[in-house]
Amino acid sequence: MSHKARGGHLAAFLMSWQRRSGRHDLPWQHTREPYRVWLSEVMLQQTQAARVLHYWPRFLARFPTLASLAAASLEDVLALWSGLGYYRRAALVHRCAQCVATQHGGEFPRSAKALQALPGIGRSTAAAIAAFCWNERAPILDGNVRRILARVFALDAPSERQLWQLAESLLPQSAADMPTYTQALMDLGALLCTPRQPQCSACPLAGCCAAAASGAPEGWPVRTSRPARRSLTLWLLHASTADGTRIWLTQRPTRGIWGGLYCLPAFPSRARLLAALPEGVRTAAREQPPITHLLTHRSLQLCCISAPFAAGATPPAPGAWHSTVALGALGLPAPIRRFLQAMHKKQE
Ligand code: ADE
Repeated sequence: MSHKARGGHLAAFLMSWQRRSGRHDLPWQHTREPYRVWLSEVMLQQTQAARVLHYWPRFLARFPTLASLAAASLEDVLALWSGLGYYRRAALVHRCAQCVATQHGGEFPRSAKALQALPGIGRSTAAAIAAFCWNERAPILDGNVRRILARVFALDAPSERQLWQLAESLLPQSAADMPTYTQALMDLGALLCTPRQPQCSACPLAGCCAAAASGAPEGWPVRTSRPARRSLTLWLLHASTADGTRIWLTQRPTRGIWGGLYCLPAFPSRARLLAALPEGVRTAAREQPPITHLLTHRSLQLCCISAPFAAGATPPAPGAWHSTVALGALGLPAPIRRFLQAMHKKQE
């Protein structure tokens, strides 16, 4: 059977399964407002729905309109994004809002092609927004869909071109079906066709899935060896006032790890950090147990050195004193927030 013929069946199977057994109570499913849908799709890039459930409503309560987000400071946007990870997304969300406000009269352009030209919106995210908001027949191809296609068609080393063509060929004929079809693929990937232990017995595509027929569906997608995470050690100065009520925080450079977030000042080595401290402070400094934190491409070793400073003193790095009771309002990397909460819990 050709892909096209099979495609019609696949779309129909997927949609009837979605209506019966898919997710219908995710809050972003109850709106077709582009601003809200866009925000949910960007948050859902690389992040599970269960986490986004907490962030999406909070973000919208603070920035209910595109105009309010465009007018906000990047700092406020980062503070609300804090804990969601992949902080570049927050900066891109901010830039995208400003771009739509200034270059598109405050309205998202109404096609996947035009959406894709905006900051932080790739081809798949553009298609999801256009399908959900305007029924556009544009295919999504995120990690879940790549896995589903690799399994159904037993693709060992598909090219990008091949995957997009396949995704395109499987779309339902009727544009009105696009929201249900798009949601069906997302739901199948999240609920049944999972990376480990897929539940083929409940899958609407099991009857036409090559991976299921093989009896070893986990064998697709074929794993390519990914280069090991490079390891990076950050020597962080945890400068606090002697009474522990204030800490010295700096803003990370916009490019690179934790771009734009508040953080303890980083030094390239233990020796350089200690050498920067005034002598009286150095003798009182205490090295904390290192924290390992995994990012997608990096394994971070966070080595914090705690040092007490007099209230009027200036630690040896750009930054400012911040009250330890007001950390909730700042955009901090999650492991730094946990560290500071543990160190200053008496004040909270
Ligand atoms: N992943 C990406 N977009 C999604 C959506 N709209 N619903 C659930 N999971 C998703």
